[in-house]
Amino acid sequence: MTAPIRKAVFPVAGLGTRFLPATKAMPKEMLTVVDKPVIQHVVDEARAAGIEHFIFVTGRNKGVIEDHFDRQVELEQELEKRGKTDELAALKAGLPGPGQTSFTRQQAPLGLGHAVWCARDLVGNEPFALLLPDVLVQSNGRTCLAQLMDVYATTGGNVIAVEEVPEDLTHQYGIVDIEDGAGSSRRIKGMVEKPAPGTAPSNLIIMGRYLLQPEIFDILEAQERGAGGEIQITDAMIALLERQLFTAVSYEGKSFDCGSKAGFLAANIAFALQRADLRPALLQEIRKLN
Ligand code: G1P
Repeated sequence: MTAPIRKAVFPVAGLGTRFLPATKAMPKEMLTVVDKPVIQHVVDEARAAGIEHFIFVTGRNKGVIEDHFDRQVELEQELEKRGKTDELAALKAGLPGPGQTSFTRQQAPLGLGHAVWCARDLVGNEPFALLLPDVLVQSNGRTCLAQLMDVYATTGGNVIAVEEVPEDLTHQYGIVDIEDGAGSSRRIKGMVEKPAPGTAPSNLIIMGRYLLQPEIFDILEAQERGAGGEIQITDAMIALLERQLFTAVSYEGKSFDCGSKAGFLAANIAFALQRADLRPALLQEIRKLN
């Protein structure tokens, strides 16, 4: 039996400089894709995979994320009074229950590995999920994180979602080297964070969904700065790979990099086109653009 994964960590301390001025006073994670903030899409993905506790590693000026995952009692009462049941349902949908959220702060921008380490006491000594909120995944069946959970149920250990990118983009990501063979999940032999162009061991990137064992925290505690002068989660995973199993999963679905303007806009279009109530009208509007 593998230990159940109940908690998920969401690193949401990033400054969002690529979206200025939109993110001057508003966290980038609160930008909307269709009618939900990006972070809510990611929390919903985690919940659909069975996550019960949501841990946010925030930073200064991110308080509105905490408000978003709280109740808005006055608004609820007003909507109820006016009989606006659909709006009330939308307001309450996906709201974590009492005691299901925790917030801590990464006080300085020292990297993703450092952000995850900030959650060590909130996670405790149990395996956990890590979801990078810049990445949204559209899937027709089970969500990306749920697919990782399915693999974890048989493999245990650490499980990471991977996908292929064109070779000239590998230097922008963490890259995995996997063992030969067929199948959508394979053992990882090695990893490297942002390899110099032309040196990547494969074109399989670490795309932003992880299931990790708690031993990663001890490694992160002593982890030195790596690529970009930041403390990297990939470097800590490389150290853990010496004593624990890591499995790469080529998940079914399509990812959108909402940290880039083009990816964010594409996510809005793709997620809206998936909605029966929006698709016809949106297609009509798009056709009018030409
Ligand atoms: C982070 C990770 C990297 C991963 C990427 C996915 O990098 O360090 O391994 O491939 O997210 O988006 P960042 O995008 O924060 O530079």
